[in-house]
Amino acid sequence: MRDADTSAGTAVDDAIARAAELVAGSSYLIAFTGAGVSAESGIPTFRGQGGIWGSYDESHLELGFFRREPAIAWKTIKQIFYTFTLSVEPNDAHRVLARWEAAGRLRLVVTQNIDGLHRRAGSRNVAEFHGSCDELVCMRCGGRVPAAAGLLDSLPPRCECGGLLKPGFVFFGEGIPADAYETAFSAAAMADACLVIGSTGTVYPAASIPRAVKRAGGRVVEINPEPSEFTDEVSDVLIRLPAAEAMRRLEAAVDAI
Ligand code: APR
Repeated sequence: MRDADTSAGTAVDDAIARAAELVAGSSYLIAFTGAGVSAESGIPTFRGQGGIWGSYDESHLELGFFRREPAIAWKTIKQIFYTFTLSVEPNDAHRVLARWEAAGRLRLVVTQNIDGLHRRAGSRNVAEFHGSCDELVCMRCGGRVPAAAGLLDSLPPRCECGGLLKPGFVFFGEGIPADAYETAFSAAAMADACLVIGSTGTVYPAASIPRAVKRAGGRVVEINPEPSEFTDEVSDVLIRLPAAEAMRRLEAAVDAI
């Protein structure tokens, strides 16, 4: 009788071996990432233990609230998104995906994350489904300005035209950027494999993307220390490890095929 550690370790080894076969055998691989891929870079996830929504009011990220109470909303937004995102680095999970893109193995990263870490790791084909923190957008003239630290010294930040500046990422109740939406769903329709890393799979329409791959006959490899909404419904393999370790081991397993 194998002890629990051994059987868990064997299950992970088996999952990595099966995942490596799927990745190595794919002709159109995409990745779909959530907050968990950036957890080892020091950015807290939204849900689960220590999640952001356990400490902050999600309603402050609703467009209606932001229009009514911009000063209160901006105080929350600055604390959540502009305190740590300006000082964190990509981790090995981001870096392996960037290497796979450079080697022609990975076609696209669709990310729900707004931290810009996939681009900072070197990925060029990135669909930022929820936008990014990089710029602020004027709600009056539509002008875009870089989210430089000084700009947030007084809240709410104002455009030169006097209009209210909003973060360049998608609020609850706001539409998905059209180019990211189109890029993501057309790639999902062509993908024969999708790597899902670090997402609860609870927020739509983003969570439809791995489902679209599965519906079109593609295979889904999931990396997450915990099961998600994807696990029973769409994942062919679940590697129950943190993203950085999982991607290091998966890269080695793929290289060995
Ligand atoms: N490696 C991989 N996965 C991890 C790690 C890790 N080190 N740590 C946590 N996770 C997993 C958790 O188990 C969870 O399934 O990452 C997932 C994080 O889930 P959420 O916090 O719900 O993040 P996400 O799915 O990206 O949220 C989607 O919700 O609030 C909105 O717009 C926001 O883009 C976000 C969307």
